[in-house]
Amino acid sequence: MLPESVRIVEVGARDGLQNLPTPASVEVRAQLVNMLAQSGLRHIETGSFVSPKYVPQMAGSDQVFQSVEKKNGVVYAALTPNLRGMEDALSSGADEAAVFASASEGFSQKNINCSIAESLKRFEPVMALAQQHNIPVRGYVSCIISCPYDGITAPLQVAEVTRELYQMGCYEVSLGDTIGTGTPVKVKKVLEACTKDVPMEHLAAHFHNTYGQALANIYASLEEGLSVVDSAVAGLGGCPYAPGASGNVATEDVLYLMEGLNIKTGVAMDKLLEAATFICGQLGIESRSNAGLALGA
Ligand code: HMG
Ligand code: MG
Repeated sequence: MLPESVRIVEVGARDGLQNLPTPASVEVRAQLVNMLAQSGLRHIETGSFVSPKYVPQMAGSDQVFQSVEKKNGVVYAALTPNLRGMEDALSSGADEAAVFASASEGFSQKNINCSIAESLKRFEPVMALAQQHNIPVRGYVSCIISCPYDGITAPLQVAEVTRELYQMGCYEVSLGDTIGTGTPVKVKKVLEACTKDVPMEHLAAHFHNTYGQALANIYASLEEGLSVVDSAVAGLGGCPYAPGASGNVATEDVLYLMEGLNIKTGVAMDKLLEAATFICGQLGIESRSNAGLALGA
């Protein structure tokens, strides 16, 4: 049975903008977040506190957090790779943080410059600091299907990292098909492996749409009982450390699917399209959302 409602976690202002050839300004980033909140999205990744040498596009995330007009009931979340990142997130007023690990060693090294085991160790003090400040922490696992450096990922390897993040206190673990190579049966196998240790209600789907499979994979995940979906307005994005990876599944496409399935999200399509038009106009790019393009035509 499909869920009655789905929580959409909007990652466009972080995952979407982190891979742009030219960084978006603080003003544009804050305006995007405000417009996303106006559409009814209740969970918005607003920036990341990572090294600007690695990801210059996310520099100034502190200013983005401070410029946003905070709306009641909206969670403004930040990516935090280490203690310094968590300290910066706290002082910027983020409501929530996210630590990110990989299920494959190659991506872990390239993305955060350490092994999987080292990253999990590094997250311990990050979790402790968040706990002291009552800040919920989400976890990400990248490369749940395959890795641009190591090839195919075994579902058991995904399950292991997912369990570690959950046991260290992440309230939810988002499963990242970073390079979008997943197809429904493969995704179901990963979910099956992960739910041996972590209940489905603590898992989320974070699917990039590189091979056009994200919506099929989301539908397959809903069939398994998952009800939290990450997506990016206009299908923006990609990861700088995953060459060739294209954007996240577009929020407009996810919303269109949910509306068609009578699944509640609380998001209004017209306002979401306004946010998409705004950011694509600012960046001088065309939306990667099929529903968005069709509805805007
Ligand atoms: P490192 O080089 O091992 O760390 O990087 P370090 O401690 O040696 O620091 C190196 C430099 O970075 C130093 O500066 C630090 O001060 C600075 P320097 O002395 O050379 O001038 N630094 C920082 N600056 C700002 N904020 C910080 C911070 N920490 C250190 N928090 C590190 C390790 C984790 C910092 C680095 O590898 C990094 O920032 N990586 C982030 C990469 C990233 O953001 N990737 C994209 C997000 S993940 C993603 O997109 C996947 C996801 O969407 C799920 C999916 O799709 O799979 C989540
Ligand atoms: Mg991602």
